[in-house]
Amino acid sequence: MAQGGKGGPAHAGTLRQERAGGRLVGGKPQAAVVEEFASFVSPGRVGVYRALGVDAVPGRREGVYVWDLDGKRYINCRSSGGVFNLGHRAPAVVNALKQALDVLDIGDHMLLSEQRARLARRLAELTPGDITYSFFTASGGEACDVAIKLARGYTGRPGIVSAENGYHGHTGFALSAGDPRFKRHFEPLMPGFHQVPFGDVEALRRAVDETTAAVIFETIPATAGIIIPPADFFPAVRQVCDAAGALMILDEVQAGLGRTGRLWATDEWGVVPDILVLGKGMSGGVYPLSAVCYRAHVDEFFRRNPFVHLTSFGGADLGCVCALAMLDEICRPGFLDHVRSMGERFERGFAALRKAYPGLVAGWRRRGLMMAFELADDRLGPMMTYALGENGVIAVFSDFRPRAMQIMPPLVIQPAQVDEVIDAMDRALGLVESMVAAGAPVPYTP
Ligand SMILES: Cc1ncc(COP(=O)(O)O)c(C=O)c1O
Repeated sequence: MAQGGKGGPAHAGTLRQERAGGRLVGGKPQAAVVEEFASFVSPGRVGVYRALGVDAVPGRREGVYVWDLDGKRYINCRSSGGVFNLGHRAPAVVNALKQALDVLDIGDHMLLSEQRARLARRLAELTPGDITYSFFTASGGEACDVAIKLARGYTGRPGIVSAENGYHGHTGFALSAGDPRFKRHFEPLMPGFHQVPFGDVEALRRAVDETTAAVIFETIPATAGIIIPPADFFPAVRQVCDAAGALMILDEVQAGLGRTGRLWATDEWGVVPDILVLGKGMSGGVYPLSAVCYRAHVDEFFRRNPFVHLTSFGGADLGCVCALAMLDEICRPGFLDHVRSMGERFERGFAALRKAYPGLVAGWRRRGLMMAFELADDRLGPMMTYALGENGVIAVFSDFRPRAMQIMPPLVIQPAQVDEVIDAMDRALGLVESMVAAGAPVPYTP
């Protein structure tokens, strides 16, 4: 290829200048960055984000706030599904990473690792019951793949039962366990997967038999609309799995690590899964990491097959350092009390909004700061996403239940910032009301 690649030497010079100037953020006007993204990354996504009014490019970021490249400030109530549980650039994690960069790198995934051992030991102390071992991966989807491989390998059975409207990632086994809508375009996928309605014990009983390797559910399904299961559901899932000799996998990629006001969402139901899947927040928002944590007896399969899943970037030493710093933060005395109290503050705000906009607001569902703000119909979710963006809040509707706005602020949000979000929601509902009255089209239908 000619020097400078397709853009030629002049283009290469511009890139060098941008880097030399040290302007990682805001080196170009926002509109130019959007054009560049559309030209070289994804015109399709830019089209959708433009329609939804969320085509701002995140620039400076700190705590619960993100500023776009034009300088407009937003409160992040998406948190990338929990990646930013500690807010953006949490000082404790960023400092741990900076120090680690002086002595460590990713490490060699085939060799042993001091950092992986430290993190796994800490997770064994913190996870429920006799969950003992951790296998580290680079993404939540890969972690779900490993969980399903482990279940099939351990039991020697093929069947995997999961939830309709579930989401476990876009990789092979995880995609197969997700809702059929994620699979179109890619079939045939892996055989042996079967879906049941989430929360329906009788359907689960009918689906699970002696060929079932595992049942996998999100503890609180997020993409489905933050659905809180009935109180007796998970104890019944445990019992159905035990009766059939199948493993129980809980995917807490979004719901774990303090999001619900408990360290693990499953703590609310007092149920210990055989395999607990973690991701997103594990990264502390700065270094990708996910984990499959499992009970001691299940390790029998990996003991016989210690090299059965390899991943160059899974459990990188730098990522383990960040995860340990993140765990120290969420285990501080009072941290989970704070999550619960901020959730209650949101709930009081939601109640006032329902009173003010009875025609638009249907209710909410919530555990800690894992919250769905439910609108009256599915048209209103995309409109609300647009209207919140206009009013300085990033929040999105749920793919499978567009009327359910996912409100997932960083867990470190402060009382005045909760009030800021509620005020912005008030203004956004006013805007949605006028959009509906004017017969405005729905900006986007998922
Ligand atoms: C519940 C759940 N599981 C798994 C995943 C996949 O994680 P990743 O995007 O890191 O592959 C996600 C991502 O949103 C998720 O919400």
